[in-house]
Amino acid sequence: MAVMTDDDCIDILEIKKYLKSPIIGRNIYYEEKVSSTNSMAKDLAIKGVKNGSVVIADMQEKGRGRNGKIWISPPGRNIYMSIILRPKFSPEDARGMTMLAAVSAADAILEITSLMPQIKWPNDILINSKKVSGILTEMGTQNNIIEYIIVGIGINVNLSEEGIPDDIKNIATSLSMELNKTQGKNISGNTRLISRNKLIISFLNKFDRYYEMFLSTGLSPVLQSYQKYFDMIGKDVEITLENRKVKGQVAGIDSKGALLVKTGENELEKIVSGELNY
Ligand code: BTN
Repeated sequence: MAVMTDDDCIDILEIKKYLKSPIIGRNIYYEEKVSSTNSMAKDLAIKGVKNGSVVIADMQEKGRGRNGKIWISPPGRNIYMSIILRPKFSPEDARGMTMLAAVSAADAILEITSLMPQIKWPNDILINSKKVSGILTEMGTQNNIIEYIIVGIGINVNLSEEGIPDDIKNIATSLSMELNKTQGKNISGNTRLISRNKLIISFLNKFDRYYEMFLSTGLSPVLQSYQKYFDMIGKDVEITLENRKVKGQVAGIDSKGALLVKTGENELEKIVSGELNY
């Protein structure tokens, strides 16, 4: 049975102590229970809270995933967090925020757990081919000008196998499950728990650094790090788009983060968004 340690409680004062940025995380709104941190962040954004504000919750009653799916969000175990951004760039550039968050999450996971993440395009984080983290980016615009971007991230940190519904057990995992598989239980025979505070601190500091680089030089530093976690080149894939499917082999990622798929001898398709299967 897993033993909960103090380390496993989210401690906002502790987190704030280690944040390097004057912007990302300067305001943190913490709730034990919310419907969805993305929904709360959107309400706050509409009310006018500052750029870089962050919403964190210990549990979500209606955690939202991509494509209308639900995101399993029990208390005491995982990270549910949304960042509110108010950038001056154009809505087309907002897609980069999802990749930026994916790279920040992968870097933070590697730093805190030493587990090597893979990124499944565009933004699923996998460990040993199973999903541990997902990102849901939402945007509010007016007259093609961004009013706010909400970057929501969920990370399965200390979720136990029993906490994962049967129908997704073969595709989902948590960091502690993977760590225990590779390193075994700790010296007292207990399940190793990973500090959510350390992961949040690491993620927010990395997100801040990549965001600064994005604002000054664009997406290329993010894409450079993205390649480290992207091991899909040459793989056979099928991508479900709104009205058709694309089949082929992954050829790479372009400078704007689109997936390049070789669909024929001399044919390359650029996929901007879609559901990837392989
Ligand atoms: C996915 O389907 O891969 C995206 C999952 C995103 C889940 C996070 S948890 C925090 C934030 N609030 C939500 O309701 N969703 C995102």
